[in-house]
Amino acid sequence: MRAAERPSGDTSAPQYLDRLRFPADPWRLVETEFSKDDLGVTETLFAVGNGYLGLRGNIEDGHDAHAHGTFINGFHETWDILHAEEAYGFARTGQTIVNVPDPKIIRLYVNDEPLLLSIADLIEYSRVLDMRDGVLTRELLWRTPSGNRVRIRSRRMVSFAQRHVAVMEFEVTLLDEEAPIAISSQLLNRAAGIDEYRANPTPNSGINDPRKASKLDKRVLEPRLHTGDDRRAVLGYQAENSKMTLAVAMQHTVDFDGDFDTVCEAEEDYAKHVFRARPRPGQTFTLTKVVSYHTSRVVPARELADRCHRTLDRVEAEGIAKQYEDQRAWLDGFWSRSDVEIEGHDDVQQAVRWNMFQLAQAAARGDGLGVAAKGLTGSGYGGHYFWDSEIYVMPFFTYTSPIIARNALRYRYQMLPAARRRAAELAQHGALYPWRTINGEEASAYYAAGTAQYHIDADISFAVDKYVRATGDDEFLSRNGIDILIETARMWADLGFWRKVEGKGESFRIHGVTGPDEYTTVVNDNLYTNVMARFNLRVAAKSLGKLRDRWPEQFEKVVARLGVTPDEVEEWERAADGMAILWDDLLGIHPQDALFNEREVWDLENTPADKRPLLLHFHPLVIYRFQVLKQADVVLALFLQGEHFTPEQKRKDFEYYDPITTGDSTLSGVVQSIIAAEVGYHELALRYFWDGLYVDLADLHENAADGVHTASTGGVWSALVYGFGGFRDHDDVLRFDPRLPEQWPSLTYRITQRGTRVRVTVRQESILFAIEEGPGLTVDVRGERHSLTQLQELEVPLDHQGERIPGAPDAQAFHGTVRADGTVITPSLPTSVTEDVEEPPTETQQLHMPES
Ligand code: BGC
Repeated sequence: MRAAERPSGDTSAPQYLDRLRFPADPWRLVETEFSKDDLGVTETLFAVGNGYLGLRGNIEDGHDAHAHGTFINGFHETWDILHAEEAYGFARTGQTIVNVPDPKIIRLYVNDEPLLLSIADLIEYSRVLDMRDGVLTRELLWRTPSGNRVRIRSRRMVSFAQRHVAVMEFEVTLLDEEAPIAISSQLLNRAAGIDEYRANPTPNSGINDPRKASKLDKRVLEPRLHTGDDRRAVLGYQAENSKMTLAVAMQHTVDFDGDFDTVCEAEEDYAKHVFRARPRPGQTFTLTKVVSYHTSRVVPARELADRCHRTLDRVEAEGIAKQYEDQRAWLDGFWSRSDVEIEGHDDVQQAVRWNMFQLAQAAARGDGLGVAAKGLTGSGYGGHYFWDSEIYVMPFFTYTSPIIARNALRYRYQMLPAARRRAAELAQHGALYPWRTINGEEASAYYAAGTAQYHIDADISFAVDKYVRATGDDEFLSRNGIDILIETARMWADLGFWRKVEGKGESFRIHGVTGPDEYTTVVNDNLYTNVMARFNLRVAAKSLGKLRDRWPEQFEKVVARLGVTPDEVEEWERAADGMAILWDDLLGIHPQDALFNEREVWDLENTPADKRPLLLHFHPLVIYRFQVLKQADVVLALFLQGEHFTPEQKRKDFEYYDPITTGDSTLSGVVQSIIAAEVGYHELALRYFWDGLYVDLADLHENAADGVHTASTGGVWSALVYGFGGFRDHDDVLRFDPRLPEQWPSLTYRITQRGTRVRVTVRQESILFAIEEGPGLTVDVRGERHSLTQLQELEVPLDHQGERIPGAPDAQAFHGTVRADGTVITPSLPTSVTEDVEEPPTETQQLHMPES
């Protein structure tokens, strides 16, 4: 049971994990026992990556796997989307991240007996992902069938310091008897995704899960070169349709005090080095494998192979120890800027750091690429970039490693030409960003829950503005950011329209859009969209004004580049001021959209667990008919645009929407946690936080095998810093109004604003600020301003942690309310649920049905 569904009052950290197998440790994720039962999940949890290259936590022997996975950010294949029924402007180009040649395979044979983890007689086993070192280590003590005990220690690291490099080590020590050993280290391209050991390792559940990647089930990578000698082997490819190119090279070194021989083979789809030796008991054979990947949209594979050689040469010259040192130094820097500490709870601390580590692994060395929904840990969602990056991931980087945020935002800038074309295709001015994409083209085939999410434009603008305000990087604003702000503002000004309201003048409306909640689509005046569009229009005007006042030369360039006119800017401001923000007087809430409150309310309390998540059990039309949310929508607006809502409105809106929010998207709970904390539902805030924190670690949505829920990992940081930490950044002053959970003695986090890093420690009775770097800044604690300098820490007493409302909002509080038209709000369910109508047979079942 998810924590959010547990009885109220129970706010203790749920013991989701088997602590014998995964003991609590503040810096390391430790596994003490091997299991074949949850391979998919552990492959995700123990994945290593650097934002460019990602290696799933597959076992070295390559035998048992839920899904082998090696991914390069943005390296994708394209395909024609075949719509059963075509219509003008539908997305045409499917894009799917490619599972690239696998460098992880290192097979061991002792006396010709293969080490196969799933059947091996393991006397000892441990696997550790150390988040300070960025190294995955595995230690085994294996008793071979002939009784010889063998110690095997392996290490795997994807370098944060050198984005093209991965290092693997494999140490073998025989403990009892001398014996012949062979180690076969490989690069393997599984053409058409076929596992060499079984045709389809993942049994098909029979349910079409839209969260999985579209399968690329034919050969994608056309071989372009393969070479190999005793030192190195190189493979080169080109993707058939996208024409992207890739080269991967490996080099081995051996440390062994004795004779050994090496055989090399290189073919189109694999390269291997086999090492043979005959160690005596106690003698260690150490193999070090360095791998380098280079990829491109245009450069021929042969040239990329040269780049791989140069990278390997450099690593060889520097030595392996330096690679580990650089990794550690990079991570020391990362943690010093971003660590969040929760006193006295090692289990929570471990999970918090694991979540933040995932953010680094998803984005750190993307160096101008996007952040995929699953990072580089799995193929879920096809490796696509969504609004997840701007709303859930960028706040973390903006305040801890702004260069990473800048690089990712620059990628959005580079997508502008495609976004302009897409806007034109949809009969709009300005630019419309794709809902999901890798290469800038819209890849969402289902427009109602895809392209219709016009809010992506405002989400990107929101991230640009936050980045610029937090860093003062006006150079980015004037060269890249402003173009995004202007083109998206143009889109909104054109998409919306004016409507006369009897006796009240005019209001600006936005029709036919989908908000973040994908269980209600193509609606009029979605609250989130309108509030964020208003922000977008204003921030475009304001930023232009700032350039005009402070950087007139840059301003002139922007005007010349984009042809902006004063009338246009005035129109944006007028549209923002006239934006329709709907309000329901009877319920005293903001309706999610113009028709939302008309709908029947889905009775979630009486929905059986086996009918959830709704998206896997009901046709969209069934869901769309109801007031039921996949994820926070109004509640997200209350957070992102919080300064435009009163505390009373926030509480009422939260109380209305919380009971009808399923949380079927992991983007929901973390946001509900933040607003629950703000309005006073402190127990509930914590329960939502637990669910976000453990969503992958405890596989709460039963799909962690497809990869890490990266947006949720960013949301965990936001829930800590904005939620419990009470941080708000609606304007240039950093504001604090904390909501520390009763069980936590203290919570410490760090924020960097314009070169000043401040450490914030929240305790029950005070909030303490200490400048760790930079000159200082001004903060506001519950309405009082304080200047912080390097010279002195500042401790401000707190006499409360906000209002404390126990439990959760009453799900029935609004039932029985009479709508304006005299109808009564009553919860209900589709008949298939109440009468327990059998679901239709799945495809697999149908195949086995006897002919009648
Ligand atoms: C959510 C979207 C999100 C996508 C990728 C979906 O389930 O509804 O908001 O962008 O997942 O994470």
